[in-house]
Amino acid sequence: MITTEQSIINAMDGDDASLVPFLHYILQDLWEIGAEPDAIIRLIRKHYSGITPAGVLDLGCGKGAVSVKIAANLGFQCHGIDALPEFIDHCRIKAEEYQVSHLCTFETADIRERIKNLNGFDIIILGAIGPVLGDYFHTFYTLLPHLNPDGLIIIDDGYIIDTSNYTHPGLLKESDLLKQVQQAGMQRIANQIFDRSTINESDEIMFKNLKRRCEELSAMHPDKKHVFDNYIKKQEEEFDVLENKIITSSMVFKRK
Ligand SMILES: C[S@@+](CC[C@H](N)C(=O)[O-])C[C@H]1O[C@@H](n2cnc3c(N)ncnc32)[C@H](O)[C@@H]1O
Repeated sequence: MITTEQSIINAMDGDDASLVPFLHYILQDLWEIGAEPDAIIRLIRKHYSGITPAGVLDLGCGKGAVSVKIAANLGFQCHGIDALPEFIDHCRIKAEEYQVSHLCTFETADIRERIKNLNGFDIIILGAIGPVLGDYFHTFYTLLPHLNPDGLIIIDDGYIIDTSNYTHPGLLKESDLLKQVQQAGMQRIANQIFDRSTINESDEIMFKNLKRRCEELSAMHPDKKHVFDNYIKKQEEEFDVLENKIITSSMVFKRK
């Protein structure tokens, strides 16, 4: 198993785990750092038909934008887990600001271990965390014992359309993704694809901010300048992939 730091940096589209202690500085200007909370809320409203208020598990919750907004808009109980303690601090501040602290629990842990002792969720969300729990088959295999019988799994992720020649480590062709879904005894009941023009806009803002923060860090820690420069370069490449080469979407899955 890779280290927690490596898992975090992979999920943040970097490659050097020595950057992890600086991530909260680099991302200080942003709250939404992955999935689009409003899209997930729309999907829950449309596809969740179980008991309310539902219990939501948000794995790799980042700074809590998805959980806090679900709690504020739907009144659901949200349990967010992330390995970065500074992100979890931020989750709690935002829950307070949105007056939903009573509906939200946030904790610092490695989800690969923590999931083993959690049970009975109606909705499990993996918002832009990539293959932290393995490929789709293994992800469902890990999550299903912790999901109630009529529960939903919502995954925000990228995939490659079948007709494309493009390849990317960690990203599947859509047909291979759906094969694994099938093998795990699941079905995809919704696929909310993101509009490329909206992705361009939000990525541009995100990139400008993190570039500026990396440059500030280079000035503060000249010995690590290559690490920060490399992250800027990786992010630039990753944004190009997101904008031009793959499909990103929020997908809803349930048992067959
Ligand atoms: C791109 S962010 C997405 C955050 C959030 N889900 C969102 O959509 O706003 C990926 C998150 O996954 C977390 N992460 C990666 N590996 C993890 C692990 N093994 N355990 C807990 N959190 C992890 C990172 O710390 C990071 O906050």
